[in-house]
Amino acid sequence: MAFRGWKWLLLLGRQNTFAKAWRSRRGGPSLRWKRCCHWSASKSLDPEVRAFLEENTEVTSSGHLTPEIRLRLLTPRCRFWREKPDLWPYGDPFWAIYWPGGQALSRYILDNPRVVKGRSVLDLGSGCGATAIAAVMSGASQVLANDIDPIAGMAMILNCELNHLNPFPITIKNIINSEAGNWDLIVLGDMFYDEQLADGLHHWLRKCIRIQQTEVLIGDPGRHQFLSHSIHSQLHKVIEYSLPEYTRQENNGLTSSIVWSYQPSNSLENC
Ligand SMILES: C[S@@+](CC[C@H](N)C(=O)[O-])C[C@H]1O[C@@H](n2cnc3c(N)ncnc32)[C@H](O)[C@@H]1O
Repeated sequence: MAFRGWKWLLLLGRQNTFAKAWRSRRGGPSLRWKRCCHWSASKSLDPEVRAFLEENTEVTSSGHLTPEIRLRLLTPRCRFWREKPDLWPYGDPFWAIYWPGGQALSRYILDNPRVVKGRSVLDLGSGCGATAIAAVMSGASQVLANDIDPIAGMAMILNCELNHLNPFPITIKNIINSEAGNWDLIVLGDMFYDEQLADGLHHWLRKCIRIQQTEVLIGDPGRHQFLSHSIHSQLHKVIEYSLPEYTRQENNGLTSSIVWSYQPSNSLENC
Protein backbone atom coordinates (compact mmCIF):
# COMPACT_ATOMS: atom_id res chain seq x y z
CA MET A 1 0.00 0.00 0.00
CA ALA A 2 1.41 3.45 -0.86
CA PHE A 3 1.28 5.96 1.98
CA ARG A 4 1.98 9.56 1.12
CA GLY A 5 1.08 11.45 4.31
CA TRP A 6 1.62 10.86 8.01
CA LYS A 7 -1.00 8.09 7.98
CA TRP A 8 1.88 5.66 7.35
CA LEU A 9 2.80 6.21 11.01
CA LEU A 10 -0.15 3.98 11.83
CA LEU A 11 1.89 1.01 10.64
CA LEU A 12 3.52 1.26 14.06
CA GLY A 13 6.30 -1.29 14.46
CA ARG A 14 6.36 -2.13 10.78
CA GLN A 15 7.59 1.25 9.62
CA ASN A 16 10.71 1.59 11.72
CA THR A 17 13.20 1.31 8.90
CA PHE A 18 11.31 3.96 7.03
CA ALA A 19 11.02 6.15 10.11
CA LYS A 20 14.74 5.92 10.83
CA ALA A 21 15.50 6.82 7.21
CA TRP A 22 13.31 9.92 7.49
CA ARG A 23 14.94 10.96 10.70
CA SER A 24 18.48 10.60 9.43
CA ARG A 25 17.57 12.51 6.28
CA ARG A 26 15.85 15.34 8.07
CA GLY A 27 17.80 15.49 11.29
CA GLY A 28 16.09 15.80 14.66
CA PRO A 29 13.51 18.33 15.67
CA SER A 30 14.90 21.82 15.26
CA LEU A 31 13.50 23.85 18.09
CA ARG A 32 15.17 26.50 20.09
CA TRP A 33 13.87 25.01 23.33
CA LYS A 34 14.76 21.42 22.52
CA ARG A 35 17.32 21.26 25.31
CA CYS A 36 14.67 22.10 27.89
CA CYS A 37 14.18 18.93 29.90
CA HIS A 38 11.46 19.65 32.37
CA TRP A 39 8.53 21.96 31.87
CA SER A 40 6.34 23.35 34.52
CA ALA A 41 2.71 24.25 34.01
CA SER A 42 3.62 27.91 33.69
CA LYS A 43 5.94 27.42 30.70
CA SER A 44 4.29 29.20 27.81
CA LEU A 45 4.22 27.70 24.36
CA ASP A 46 6.16 29.16 21.49
CA PRO A 47 3.36 31.01 19.60
CA GLU A 48 4.62 29.71 16.24
CA VAL A 49 4.52 26.10 17.39
CA ARG A 50 1.10 26.62 18.96
CA ALA A 51 -0.24 28.09 15.72
CA PHE A 52 1.25 25.23 13.67
CA LEU A 53 -0.22 22.55 15.93
CA GLU A 54 -3.62 24.25 16.02
CA GLU A 55 -3.67 24.60 12.25
CA ASN A 56 -2.58 21.05 11.53
CA THR A 57 -4.63 18.99 13.98
CA GLU A 58 -8.33 18.54 14.60
CA VAL A 59 -10.00 18.67 18.02
CA THR A 60 -11.83 15.40 18.49
CA SER A 61 -13.51 13.40 21.22
CA SER A 62 -14.97 10.65 19.08
CA GLY A 63 -13.65 7.49 17.47
CA HIS A 64 -11.69 6.43 20.53
CA LEU A 65 -12.43 4.74 23.87
CA THR A 66 -12.53 7.88 26.02
CA PRO A 67 -15.04 10.41 24.63
CA GLU A 68 -14.73 12.39 27.88
CA ILE A 69 -11.20 13.43 26.82
CA ARG A 70 -10.83 15.96 24.00
CA LEU A 71 -7.63 15.82 22.01
CA ARG A 72 -5.87 17.54 19.13
CA LEU A 73 -5.10 14.75 16.69
CA LEU A 74 -4.10 14.17 13.10
CA THR A 75 -7.23 13.02 11.29
CA PRO A 76 -8.12 12.38 7.63
CA ARG A 77 -9.37 15.97 7.50
CA CYS A 78 -5.92 17.37 8.33
CA ARG A 79 -3.58 18.52 5.59
CA PHE A 80 -0.68 16.29 6.64
CA TRP A 81 -2.76 13.12 6.57
CA ARG A 82 -1.85 13.04 2.90
CA GLU A 83 0.71 15.83 2.50
CA LYS A 84 4.37 14.89 1.95
CA PRO A 85 5.93 14.27 5.40
CA ASP A 86 9.09 16.17 4.44
CA LEU A 87 7.08 19.41 4.58
CA TRP A 88 6.46 18.71 8.28
CA PRO A 89 9.01 20.80 10.20
CA TYR A 90 9.36 18.59 13.30
CA GLY A 91 9.99 14.95 14.24
CA ASP A 92 7.52 12.17 13.43
CA PRO A 93 4.21 13.12 15.11
CA PHE A 94 3.46 9.97 17.13
CA TRP A 95 1.79 12.32 19.61
CA ALA A 96 -0.87 13.20 16.99
CA ILE A 97 -2.39 9.73 17.16
CA TYR A 98 -4.25 8.30 20.16
CA TRP A 99 -2.91 4.77 20.10
CA PRO A 100 -5.02 1.75 21.09
CA GLY A 101 -2.71 0.90 24.02
CA GLY A 102 -3.11 4.38 25.52
CA GLN A 103 -6.86 4.29 24.87
CA ALA A 104 -7.29 1.08 26.87
CA LEU A 105 -5.21 2.39 29.77
CA SER A 106 -7.12 5.68 29.89
CA ARG A 107 -10.50 3.90 29.75
CA TYR A 108 -9.42 1.59 32.56
CA ILE A 109 -8.22 4.48 34.75
CA LEU A 110 -11.38 6.55 34.17
CA ASP A 111 -13.60 3.57 35.02
CA ASN A 112 -11.48 2.54 38.04
CA PRO A 113 -10.25 5.78 39.64
CA ARG A 114 -9.04 3.87 42.73
CA VAL A 115 -6.11 2.67 40.58
CA VAL A 116 -4.63 6.19 40.63
CA LYS A 117 -6.47 8.08 43.39
CA GLY A 118 -3.99 9.73 45.77
CA ARG A 119 -1.07 8.02 44.02
CA SER A 120 1.90 9.31 42.01
CA VAL A 121 1.74 8.29 38.36
CA LEU A 122 4.34 8.34 35.58
CA ASP A 123 2.99 8.12 32.03
CA LEU A 124 6.00 6.89 30.05
CA GLY A 125 5.84 7.66 26.31
CA SER A 126 2.83 9.91 26.81
CA GLY A 127 2.32 11.00 23.19
CA CYS A 128 -0.85 13.11 23.18
CA GLY A 129 -1.00 12.86 26.98
CA ALA A 130 -4.45 11.24 27.17
CA THR A 131 -3.47 8.66 29.81
CA ALA A 132 -1.83 11.31 31.98
CA ILE A 133 -5.01 13.40 31.56
CA ALA A 134 -7.12 10.40 32.62
CA ALA A 135 -4.93 10.02 35.72
CA VAL A 136 -5.38 13.70 36.66
CA MET A 137 -9.15 13.50 36.07
CA SER A 138 -9.29 10.39 38.28
CA GLY A 139 -7.59 11.98 41.28
CA ALA A 140 -3.90 11.05 41.04
CA SER A 141 -1.93 13.09 43.59
CA GLN A 142 0.99 13.66 41.21
CA VAL A 143 1.35 13.03 37.47
CA LEU A 144 4.50 13.25 35.35
CA ALA A 145 4.27 12.82 31.60
CA ASN A 146 7.42 11.71 29.83
CA ASP A 147 8.03 11.73 26.08
CA ILE A 148 11.33 12.25 24.30
CA ASP A 149 9.60 14.29 21.60
CA PRO A 150 9.47 17.96 22.64
CA ILE A 151 6.52 18.59 20.32
CA ALA A 152 4.59 15.91 22.20
CA GLY A 153 5.17 18.03 25.30
CA MET A 154 3.66 21.03 23.52
CA ALA A 155 0.71 18.99 22.29
CA MET A 156 0.07 17.74 25.84
CA ILE A 157 -0.15 21.32 27.11
CA LEU A 158 -2.71 22.11 24.39
CA ASN A 159 -4.64 18.95 25.28
CA CYS A 160 -4.69 19.90 28.96
CA GLU A 161 -6.13 23.28 27.96
CA LEU A 162 -8.83 21.56 25.90
CA ASN A 163 -9.86 19.55 28.97
CA HIS A 164 -9.76 22.56 31.32
CA LEU A 165 -6.86 21.12 33.32
CA ASN A 166 -3.74 22.82 34.57
CA PRO A 167 -0.88 21.20 32.66
CA PHE A 168 0.99 18.55 34.63
CA PRO A 169 4.80 18.48 34.67
CA ILE A 170 6.30 17.07 31.50
CA THR A 171 9.82 15.79 30.95
CA ILE A 172 11.41 15.12 27.56
CA LYS A 173 14.48 13.45 29.05
CA ASN A 174 15.08 9.81 28.14
CA ILE A 175 14.63 8.37 31.61
CA ILE A 176 14.99 4.74 30.64
CA ASN A 177 18.34 3.52 31.99
CA SER A 178 18.38 6.26 34.60
CA GLU A 179 17.77 5.68 38.31
CA ALA A 180 14.51 3.97 39.17
CA GLY A 181 11.99 6.73 39.89
CA ASN A 182 9.90 6.65 43.04
CA TRP A 183 6.46 6.23 41.45
CA ASP A 184 3.46 4.39 42.84
CA LEU A 185 2.34 3.55 39.33
CA ILE A 186 3.93 3.62 35.87
CA VAL A 187 1.64 3.40 32.84
CA LEU A 188 2.82 2.72 29.29
CA GLY A 189 0.52 2.79 26.27
CA ASP A 190 1.70 1.25 22.99
CA MET A 191 5.38 1.47 23.86
CA PHE A 192 6.45 -2.03 22.80
CA TYR A 193 6.68 -1.38 19.05
CA ASP A 194 10.44 -1.56 18.66
CA GLU A 195 12.63 -4.40 19.88
CA GLN A 196 15.47 -2.27 21.25
CA LEU A 197 13.06 0.09 23.01
CA ALA A 198 11.15 -2.89 24.43
CA ASP A 199 14.37 -4.38 25.87
CA GLY A 200 15.31 -1.05 27.47
CA LEU A 201 11.84 -0.60 28.93
CA HIS A 202 11.73 -4.14 30.26
CA HIS A 203 15.03 -3.74 32.07
CA TRP A 204 14.11 -0.36 33.56
CA LEU A 205 10.64 -1.44 34.66
CA ARG A 206 12.07 -4.48 36.43
CA LYS A 207 14.47 -2.18 38.25
CA CYS A 208 11.63 0.16 39.32
CA ILE A 209 9.59 -2.77 40.63
CA ARG A 210 12.56 -4.27 42.47
CA ILE A 211 13.80 -1.04 44.07
CA GLN A 212 10.61 1.00 44.49
CA GLN A 213 7.88 -1.68 44.44
CA THR A 214 6.26 0.30 41.65
CA GLU A 215 3.09 -1.02 40.07
CA VAL A 216 3.25 -1.21 36.26
CA LEU A 217 0.33 -1.23 33.82
CA ILE A 218 0.87 -1.70 30.09
CA GLY A 219 -1.68 -1.07 27.33
CA ASP A 220 -1.18 -2.87 24.03
CA PRO A 221 -3.44 -4.02 21.20
CA GLY A 222 -1.45 -7.21 20.49
CA ARG A 223 1.44 -5.93 18.40
CA HIS A 224 3.86 -8.56 17.20
CA GLN A 225 6.86 -6.95 18.97
CA PHE A 226 4.95 -7.07 22.25
CA LEU A 227 3.55 -10.58 21.94
CA SER A 228 6.96 -11.99 21.00
CA HIS A 229 8.90 -10.15 23.72
CA SER A 230 10.03 -11.99 26.86
CA ILE A 231 8.04 -9.54 29.06
CA HIS A 232 4.83 -11.03 27.70
CA SER A 233 5.14 -14.23 29.75
CA GLN A 234 5.20 -12.18 32.98
CA LEU A 235 1.99 -10.24 32.43
CA HIS A 236 -1.43 -10.66 33.95
CA LYS A 237 -4.40 -9.61 31.89
CA VAL A 238 -6.44 -6.93 33.65
CA ILE A 239 -9.08 -6.06 31.05
CA GLU A 240 -9.69 -6.16 27.29
CA TYR A 241 -11.59 -3.49 25.37
CA SER A 242 -13.15 -3.80 21.97
CA LEU A 243 -11.88 -0.90 19.84
CA PRO A 244 -14.26 1.61 18.22
CA GLU A 245 -14.69 1.28 14.47
CA TYR A 246 -12.65 4.41 13.68
CA THR A 247 -9.66 3.16 15.72
CA ARG A 248 -9.93 -0.27 14.05
CA GLN A 249 -9.82 1.30 10.62
CA GLU A 250 -6.93 3.57 11.59
CA ASN A 251 -4.97 0.63 12.97
CA ASN A 252 -5.22 -1.72 10.05
CA GLY A 253 -7.35 -4.47 11.51
CA LEU A 254 -6.52 -4.39 15.25
CA THR A 255 -9.83 -5.06 16.99
CA SER A 256 -9.14 -4.90 20.72
CA SER A 257 -6.68 -3.50 23.23
CA ILE A 258 -5.61 -5.01 26.54
CA VAL A 259 -4.44 -3.59 29.86
CA TRP A 260 -1.77 -5.82 31.38
CA SER A 261 -0.23 -5.78 34.82
CA TYR A 262 3.50 -6.51 34.80
CA GLN A 263 4.43 -8.69 37.75
CA PRO A 264 7.86 -10.23 37.22
CA SER A 265 8.23 -13.41 39.23
CA ASN A 266 11.93 -12.65 39.67
CA SER A 267 11.66 -8.98 40.58
CA LEU A 268 13.96 -9.59 43.53
CA GLU A 269 16.83 -10.72 41.35
CA ASN A 270 19.60 -8.29 40.46
CA CYS A 271 18.85 -6.25 37.36
C1 LIG B 1 3.13 4.78 19.89
S1 LIG B 1 3.31 6.26 20.77
C2 LIG B 1 2.25 5.99 22.17
C3 LIG B 1 1.75 7.28 22.76
C4 LIG B 1 0.70 7.13 23.88
N1 LIG B 1 1.23 6.40 25.01
C5 LIG B 1 -0.57 6.48 23.37
O1 LIG B 1 -0.80 5.30 23.69
O2 LIG B 1 -1.33 7.16 22.65
C6 LIG B 1 4.92 6.08 21.52
C7 LIG B 1 5.44 7.36 22.15
O3 LIG B 1 6.61 7.04 22.89
C8 LIG B 1 7.56 8.06 22.72
N2 LIG B 1 8.87 7.47 23.02
C9 LIG B 1 9.65 6.68 22.25
N3 LIG B 1 10.76 6.32 22.91
C10 LIG B 1 10.69 6.89 24.14
C11 LIG B 1 11.52 6.89 25.31
N4 LIG B 1 12.67 6.23 25.33
N5 LIG B 1 11.13 7.58 26.38
C12 LIG B 1 9.94 8.27 26.37
N6 LIG B 1 9.12 8.30 25.30
C13 LIG B 1 9.47 7.63 24.20
C14 LIG B 1 7.36 8.53 21.29
O4 LIG B 1 7.85 9.85 21.10
C15 LIG B 1 5.85 8.42 21.15
O5 LIG B 1 5.20 9.63 21.47
